Amino acid sequence: MSHPARPAHLALARAARLWFLTFLLAQLAFAFFIIAFFTPSFLSGDYAAWNAKPHLVGYVPGDTVGNAQLLVHVYLGALVTLLGSLQFVAAIRRRYPVVHRWIGRVFLGASLIATLGGFYLTWVRGAQINAASTLSISLNGVLILVFAVLAFRSAWRRDFVAHRRHATRAFLLVNGVLFLRVGIMLAGVLLTPLGIRVDYDGGVFIAVSFLSWLAPLALYEAYLWAERSTWPAVRHVATTVIGLAAVATLAGAVAAAMFMWWPRL
Ligand code: HEM
Repeated sequence: MSHPARPAHLALARAARLWFLTFLLAQLAFAFFIIAFFTPSFLSGDYAAWNAKPHLVGYVPGDTVGNAQLLVHVYLGALVTLLGSLQFVAAIRRRYPVVHRWIGRVFLGASLIATLGGFYLTWVRGAQINAASTLSISLNGVLILVFAVLAFRSAWRRDFVAHRRHATRAFLLVNGVLFLRVGIMLAGVLLTPLGIRVDYDGGVFIAVSFLSWLAPLALYEAYLWAERSTWPAVRHVATTVIGLAAVATLAGAVAAAMFMWWPRL
């Protein structure tokens, strides 16, 4: 992140930082849930206990390859969820560039394996909700692969402007799974009182599926545009939208922790 001197730049940078902090809370809660839910049954060998919470397929007796894929997928998911944010800490980048490079390699490598494993779970194992959400998660996966490669290539070529952009896009896309959960819970909190149902085969779920990776990408492009725009008004609008996104992220994360994750532990 740059160090803008003018007020409109400063407000934009602060809004982005606020959003990042709210998202960090969501990431910590999600990673904690994954580790706390899967680890006791993994250590005791009681794999059937995975199915104590709803899955698309989950644990299937006898399907050693599929069960192993699921386990590797969720642990790599927790790992990349925890690692990605560290890359935005300027102090690490400046003082310990080797650490930044190694976290980056592990993050991109783990994201590639998690994504390929996700394709296996979806397309080979048949863990699908409906055609639209399958299309959405598959597009999300393809874009993770594209931006992970671009982020790695731009770092290799020492093109750090492009690297920062592609790596941030890869980070947002890798977190699509978490945005989906936060988004669904937020939609539930906002729409259920209005009598609108948020269920797996409804239009709201499909919309949130696509928005879970499209909206963060679009917001990031808006941020980049506002950052270099010569019109202060553009920065004010972007600052407001990112500030609202921070509130929405916090609300969705609290709802996910309270109603989706905590009751399962
Ligand atoms: C690299 C980014 C990804 C991360 C961090 C990630 C993380 C996770 C996590 C933590 C879960 C378990 C969630 C829970 O039990 O509540 C999960 C489940 C799942 N993921 Fe991913 N995932 C990623 C990418 C993908 C992609 C690209 C696909 C598909 C192309 C995919 C397909 C699935 C499926 C089908 C399940 C559910 C399996 C079941 O319930 O049987 N994932 N993912």
